[in-house]
Amino acid sequence: MMKPKVLLTRGLFADATALFESDFDLEIGNRERMLTRTELLEKAGGKDAIITMLADTVDKAFLNAVPEIKIIANYAVGYNNIDVAACLERNIPVLHTPDVLTDATADAAFALLINVARRIVEAHAYVVEGKFTAWKPDLLLGQGLSGKTVGIIGMGRIGQAFARRCIGFGLNIMYYSRSRLPKEKEAAFGATYAPLEDLLKAADFVSLHVPLTDQTHHMINKKRLDLLKSTAVLINTARGPVIDEAALIEKLKNEEIWGAGLDVYENEPDVPLALRQLKNVVLLPHIGSATEEARFMMAKLLYDGLMAFFSGKVPENLVPEWKRRVESQK
Ligand code: NAP
Ligand code: GLV
Ligand code: GLV
Repeated sequence: MMKPKVLLTRGLFADATALFESDFDLEIGNRERMLTRTELLEKAGGKDAIITMLADTVDKAFLNAVPEIKIIANYAVGYNNIDVAACLERNIPVLHTPDVLTDATADAAFALLINVARRIVEAHAYVVEGKFTAWKPDLLLGQGLSGKTVGIIGMGRIGQAFARRCIGFGLNIMYYSRSRLPKEKEAAFGATYAPLEDLLKAADFVSLHVPLTDQTHHMINKKRLDLLKSTAVLINTARGPVIDEAALIEKLKNEEIWGAGLDVYENEPDVPLALRQLKNVVLLPHIGSATEEARFMMAKLLYDGLMAFFSGKVPENLVPEWKRRVESQK
């Protein structure tokens, strides 16, 4: 059998890239950087499958330009970079990487929360800059976590993993999500469901875990930011455009909230200078899932899904829209 022709748009890292090499006729777009749109279209031509990164856009124009493509495998759980409706129309399955990065991403969100609340990054800089000359009772006072209320927006895989971490730190949990959890699950988390506006008013800390969709774009707009407590901490490891970033920068500049911990931005990789100049933020370069374990397992999941597809089976890691199509055809 001829090996399927696969484009991996950028090199992963040694072990993860090697996974694909034996069973596929693999082309690596670029080992060092993202492909430009022109390069992407050119290299995807004639391929059976393409493994995309979260900044590669798969839209109608892309699909029209590469009619041979049989399947798309996105190296991320979020798939807002892919026009899934257009893929469904053309009968092109879309794979993603759920579950294997859940704990890593929840850890990153929790790291941001504790770092912003306890001013860890500021404190580190204080020591590095040689400013630690005496112990002081009121040096770099932060906020305690235990006994406070955390508001989780989007109670899916990562939202729930984040909730488990919150339980360990003695936080009370409120959540808002499209669907309510079953009663037993709510009880297990000790979590209270609340409408979005109520959550924003009541929570001491808010963490976002929704996918980016038409419904969640600017879900956290100026009006909703204004509902937050003046001591609130806002964490975003979901997608940048879920927050109106310009409005958030204003809130932070005016010190109308305590701070923010961000892993994602509206126009990645651009991070506005105004945000980078603030003291009350902790900023990460979209590394939510960046553990050796998770990033390897993401590759393995895509490899398994592609192998299943090319041997005529249904991959386990189809995106939900595609899963529903397969279910409805049974
Ligand atoms: P998930 O299991 O699908 O969870 C998403 C949750 O959001 C679900 O509970 C979903 O509700 C809810 N939701 C969807 N639309 C909503 C809306 N309009 N209003 C309120 N709630 C809504 O996905 P996940 O695996 O936890 O991942 C969540 C997101 O995290 C990904 O989409 C991705 O963008 C982001 N992420 C970022 C990183 C990073 O590196 N920073 C890493 C991994 C993931 P239902 O239960 O009704 O579907
Ligand atoms: C990363 O952001 C992902 O969606 O996996
Ligand atoms: C602080 O270091 C303390 O001992 O309280």
